[in-house]
Amino acid sequence: MLATASVPIPLVDAAATPAQLRRFFSAAYCDTPAPLRWLSAIRPYVCPYDKLLQFIPDGGDALDVGCGAGSLLALLAATKKIRRGVGCDVAEPPLASARAAARRLGAEDVLSFQHVRSIAQAPEGPFDIVAMVDVLHHVAPRERADVFAAAARRVGPGGVFIYKDMTARPGGRRLAHNIDDYVFTREWVQQVPEGAVEAWAIDQRLALVHGEFIPRLIYGHELRVFRRLDG
Ligand SMILES: C[S@@+](CC[C@H](N)C(=O)[O-])C[C@H]1O[C@@H](n2cnc3c(N)ncnc32)[C@H](O)[C@@H]1O
Repeated sequence: MLATASVPIPLVDAAATPAQLRRFFSAAYCDTPAPLRWLSAIRPYVCPYDKLLQFIPDGGDALDVGCGAGSLLALLAATKKIRRGVGCDVAEPPLASARAAARRLGAEDVLSFQHVRSIAQAPEGPFDIVAMVDVLHHVAPRERADVFAAAARRVGPGGVFIYKDMTARPGGRRLAHNIDDYVFTREWVQQVPEGAVEAWAIDQRLALVHGEFIPRLIYGHELRVFRRLDG
């Protein structure tokens, strides 16, 4: 267990299961009011953080674009996968939860969170790891290529871009995501069309090193891992 003021934080490592991650997030987000605390705790059953962890190189600097409540960076700090992590988001309220979790984890020296009006205000880097998890479907379709490109430009030589979003494949899993997002945001989102990020990545000189469809509960996820090969 990590030492904290009152709530013990279960130790997690890169092989953590969703159940172990649920216990970790439940403790790490204990300063966040319900229901966001509960949603943060159960998110590993929906969002495959356990899979994402496998593609994070050790010891780098990370930028999480659209970090929300900072779950991914909290996990990367707790597992000591990163040297430093910066999260940015256009929404300010979840960043309070992200900062509280960083404090709870004793990771304030490692993690910082910035409110930005657009990704143009995010730190330039370059970063060893840039992550964009479940963000692009919230971005207007005409702006998606630019947002993706701005994130991709922040990946340094040899660095990785971890992209994960909800599936656009027709069917029940796509509908489940639409209904879920409508319940929480009152927005009937348009998923990112298949093949779009791969095309944008080529424009940014990023090579696809891993692509995977990940079914979770009633949802479906598209994971793409890119690497910058040029210097
Ligand atoms: C579904 S949440 C995902 C949060 C986090 N990445 C996670 O996986 O828990 C989507 C987040 O993207 C943020 N977002 C939407 N458009 C953005 C943009 N253009 N730049 C940065 N963040 C954005 C939203 O404010 C929201 O916090």
